[in-house]
Amino acid sequence: MSSQQLRLSDEELIQLCHRVEVSSSLSFEELIYLVQLDERQAQILFATADRVRQRMVGDAVHLRGLIEFSNICIRQCQYCGLYCRNNQVKRYRMKEDEIFATAEHAVKMGYPSLVLQSGEDPFYNTHIERLAGVISRIKNELKVAITLSAGEFSKTDYQRLKDAGVDRYLLRFETSDAKLYRELHPDSQLDDRLQCLQYLAETGYQVGTGFMVGLPRETPEIFANNLLLLKKLNVGMVGIGPFLPNQDTPLKGEASGTSLGTLIAVALTRLLLPDTNIPATTALGTLDKDGRIKALQAGANVMMPNVSPMEFRELYKLYPNKLCVTADQGRDTAIKLVESIGRVVSFSAGHAPLRK
Ligand code: 5AD
Repeated sequence: MSSQQLRLSDEELIQLCHRVEVSSSLSFEELIYLVQLDERQAQILFATADRVRQRMVGDAVHLRGLIEFSNICIRQCQYCGLYCRNNQVKRYRMKEDEIFATAEHAVKMGYPSLVLQSGEDPFYNTHIERLAGVISRIKNELKVAITLSAGEFSKTDYQRLKDAGVDRYLLRFETSDAKLYRELHPDSQLDDRLQCLQYLAETGYQVGTGFMVGLPRETPEIFANNLLLLKKLNVGMVGIGPFLPNQDTPLKGEASGTSLGTLIAVALTRLLLPDTNIPATTALGTLDKDGRIKALQAGANVMMPNVSPMEFRELYKLYPNKLCVTADQGRDTAIKLVESIGRVVSFSAGHAPLRK
């Protein structure tokens, strides 16, 4: 690329942003330039994404209560504090009654939508009916929208969970580069992940995916391809956070992703998939104390405050310095933050746009 690399004046960048507002598409070359924008030019991109967000999904910010129901994991994801070889972490699996009670508390706090997240706990692979059971109880008794984020399952199991009442599923592809994917996940490959995303779409879920920004060995080309893959997958939800090195993992010595890079990714996602639901992630809020506000002003429209019981919070540490406040504080902080920028908290389920 080097000699013909794109370089745009402010005027040209504004033109490009106008064009994307209409077409919702960007070339690989344009993306390579955009993912490397400096802080100053990035403001032009953020303003465009904020406009598109306003026009396409309005001023509402949807809150989802996050329940981290098991930190047991059989995977070897090299960046994640829950990876199976980390024996520094005390493992837990919430009992079904505890999961239900936590969900009930979240609903009493006003959450119309819950996200149930866990490591790839092998217990649920062999006891899928137990997970399905607690899900159908939550669905039937609490009548909330349910998102699950528990990793890779067979198509039959995804179907079983859908039948039990799960509306949405989050499964990030983490990186679009097959080689880097393999290095970071020695026990799996990108194609498996993409196959699962395909199963989820076929099963009728609202599908969410996403990636980390600033993974070791990420290049601008990989970053640009991550965005093109999102566009191709045409998902209804996209979660993007910075990579944050965890001391208890093989990537402990690596540099973290940047706040600027993450915000650029959020903004470009809003431009490429204008009506998608995009959270202002906790990982970004951990890296930069104003990160979530900035994300909401650069295309994001969702927040996922943690509602897990306090005793488990410390144990569910994907990355260090995770924000740890009580469920009530988390909700109140989110509401204040949303209102401080003139936006409104939505108490409706905030379903993702229908696809296909
Ligand atoms: N830094 C940032 N994000 C991480 N995740 C896992 N480990 C880390 C880390 N060290 C993200 C992954 C995963 C999501 C649940 O958390 O993208 O999909």
